[in-house]
Amino acid sequence: MRTDTSPTIYRKDYTPPAYWVRTVEMGFDLEPSATRVATRMTLERNRAGRDRTLTLYGEELELVQIRLNGKALGKNAYALKDGVLRIADAPERVTLEIETLLRPDRNTSLMGLYVSNGNFFTQCEAEGFRKITYFPDRPDVMATYKVMLRADKKKYPVLLSNGNLIEQGDLGDGRHYALWEDPFKKPSYLFALVAGQLVCQEEKIKLKSGREALLQVWVEEGNLDKTQHAMDSLINSIRWDEERFGLELDLDRFMIVAVGDFNMGAMENKGLNIFNTKFVLANPRIATDVDYGNIEAVVGHEYFHNWTGNRVTCRDWFQLSLKEGLTVFRDQEFSADMIGTDSGRAVKRIDDVRVLRQAQFPEDAGPMAHPVRPDSFVEISNFYTVTIYEKGAEVVRMYQTLLGRDGFRKGMDLYFERHDGQAVECDDFRAAMADANGRDLTQFERWYSQAGTPRVVASVAHDAAARTYAITLQQSCPSTPGQKTKQPFHIPVAVGLLGQDGKDLPLKLRGSDLQGTTVVLELTEAQQTFVFDGVADLPVPSLLRNFSAPVVLEYDYRDDELAFLMAHDSDPFNRWEAGQRLALRRLLALTAAVRAGGGMAVDPALGESLRLTLTDDALDPAFREIALTLPSETVIAEQMDVIDPQAIHQARRFLRHALAQALRADLVDAYRNNQTPGAYSPDAVSAGKRALKNLALSYIGELDDAAAHALAQTQCDGADNMTDRFAALAALANGSAPGRAAALARFYQDFEDEPLVIDKWFSLQASARTTDVAAVRKLMQHPAFSLKNPNRARSLIFSFCNGNPSQFHAADGSGYDFWAEQVIALDALNPQVAARLARSLDRWRKYAPALRDRMRSALERVAAAPALSKDTKEVVGKSLAAE
Ligand code: TRP
Ligand code: ZN
Repeated sequence: MRTDTSPTIYRKDYTPPAYWVRTVEMGFDLEPSATRVATRMTLERNRAGRDRTLTLYGEELELVQIRLNGKALGKNAYALKDGVLRIADAPERVTLEIETLLRPDRNTSLMGLYVSNGNFFTQCEAEGFRKITYFPDRPDVMATYKVMLRADKKKYPVLLSNGNLIEQGDLGDGRHYALWEDPFKKPSYLFALVAGQLVCQEEKIKLKSGREALLQVWVEEGNLDKTQHAMDSLINSIRWDEERFGLELDLDRFMIVAVGDFNMGAMENKGLNIFNTKFVLANPRIATDVDYGNIEAVVGHEYFHNWTGNRVTCRDWFQLSLKEGLTVFRDQEFSADMIGTDSGRAVKRIDDVRVLRQAQFPEDAGPMAHPVRPDSFVEISNFYTVTIYEKGAEVVRMYQTLLGRDGFRKGMDLYFERHDGQAVECDDFRAAMADANGRDLTQFERWYSQAGTPRVVASVAHDAAARTYAITLQQSCPSTPGQKTKQPFHIPVAVGLLGQDGKDLPLKLRGSDLQGTTVVLELTEAQQTFVFDGVADLPVPSLLRNFSAPVVLEYDYRDDELAFLMAHDSDPFNRWEAGQRLALRRLLALTAAVRAGGGMAVDPALGESLRLTLTDDALDPAFREIALTLPSETVIAEQMDVIDPQAIHQARRFLRHALAQALRADLVDAYRNNQTPGAYSPDAVSAGKRALKNLALSYIGELDDAAAHALAQTQCDGADNMTDRFAALAALANGSAPGRAAALARFYQDFEDEPLVIDKWFSLQASARTTDVAAVRKLMQHPAFSLKNPNRARSLIFSFCNGNPSQFHAADGSGYDFWAEQVIALDALNPQVAARLARSLDRWRKYAPALRDRMRSALERVAAAPALSKDTKEVVGKSLAAE
């Protein structure tokens, strides 16, 4: 029974566990409709505490029996209420034996033990282990595990769990077994098992120390032609962590398993990473360049967790960013190093910042805003957010910016020296960074405790006679729920000064011995002035180079200064940023014009600056592609006091059309000059060329004329890889080409047996500009659609609600009705996925009154739905709560 209001959990209430678990032995008899789990654990009272109550958590379990030190416990020997089992006055040393019965075939939440396409999988982070057995399911309780799996040999020939395979054999009755032992102690959220009909690609590698390790990528039969890239990415990850951080794989065997039903991207279970198929399976026929890049990043991410997450884990879930922010930072650095070139690294950095601005800035300004280390939550699954992950990674990156690469490495070394095998806090990481470098990072703590995106306003003063240039920085941070006022942050602001020839000036910062053409100013007060000496002529400032802090940097650039930075800045990030600032200015003006009912017009200056970038062969194609990509509708919306999705959409379309007309000849040249003949390769250079070529195709598509249609149709018909095929299909789908319907139908036929490609097919249509609510409802009737599969639900419903703003925000509120229906329907199946969808209306208060009122009604409708999960209830409750 679910109680009506779920309690809020507070960080300040943390208490150490009353008992430690030392060893866990588990036996599974796997059957979809009745799996028996026998668990034996040894526990020891925590001497640091006075509590003698043994507390275990369990959910949706049938408790068959429980024995304490050999004696069966009757119903009076323990209290079981709201998923908590308490045994009062337990002895100092306890052996608990618990037998539970599960129904994996009915588990649609995809947490705990579940069945996907006939095979068994587990997902235990954050609190899924309690759906397998009663257990002190909290990350600071770490134990060693020995796991016996038994199952029908024909149906489940492969039996996997964490660690090393100790023994396997027949049971005689058509069943077989496998015994696994994980030598490292771990929290229960890292437990995993997999059983079923799977095949693997495997490889042996020699680790840096000379030890040998066996690597395996497990997939369903028929997908073995799609595992090579994941295997390559795994090997590259292992090498990279050895090189960059001196961290070696600590197991003899490391497995990756792909599953088609999964709530998130992937999971770092010790030695047995479980992945969404989306982040494993790739070959040129089904995967795009972006997919290849994502697979590399996610394989890296989960592998890197082996040290940052598993060997050193979190004391409690408020510390989630300790492992996630750090591990995202590590996977970002890994991906950048795999590209290798400076400009390739910059493209990766820009991509990461784009995600931050597109998703995290709005989160930090909305009703779910929370610090990187939250103070409270109702349901921890709701806190696997872009703030914890991406802003958390920015916070880790700032240590490296402040301490340098070597200083950061020293901090990492000290962190492992101090905390290997422990469950620790974000503060312990900060202390290691500070102590290893003899730095005071006290104020830096505010990045963990204060939510909201800081604003830094810059102003300058040049004194030609004194040859000084002063930069004044003022910081502030908007209120967020529960945090009205904020204290100043410790903000690294990297700056350079461009002379009139466009070259960097050598910098002499007064009161500092920093040298070079980029210096990192440390802003720690509400307002500070930094003076540069020896600046004779008025320079153009390049501020927040490489996006040195997750802030909004405001400076009153003139248009011509932005064009100058676009053409000359030695910092590629700011070169891109200048173009984005210029484009955003035009887009906001056009949006205002649409709202005022006037005509739209745009001066040729932006087009001319973009032409210079587009045609500059000294720049990587990949860089030119992101420079020519306009800020998204979501990013534009965040700049407005009152969001008008229709006006934004019209304005952006108008500008894209105008640019396509102005640059047509150069776009056609870019299209022709960036072909990639020969066998497909996902390397950064080839991918960059395809990206630029396909960007040109998409701009040309805006013209929606016969030539544009022919170009897209020819590419669609002739493409030998998914990147080109999909880009061409998108160009056709967003225009009125005569071949549109046939191309979509043909694509479906060609890839009917490839679920990941069918996801793309749904998602493309869901975000096409002509797709309205009625069209989405019709697509939901397609036999290939299913609400139960998270990837499929995301591909259609999320793509529409989050990726097609002008249709979703239809004036009659039909999009919101649809959203409410789907949140409620999903909630009954899978609360985690439903609660994600529930976030689509986060920013409802910022819309014009007519839309705002309809959004509020939809939120209220969901909030009032019977038997709503605590996941969804928390999200809509916070959305509706007074500001
Ligand atoms: N720890 C996982 C990661 O970042 C995240 C994750 C995977 C997860 N599956 C989950 C979190 C299910 C919550 C619920 O790589
Ligand atoms: Zn992670």
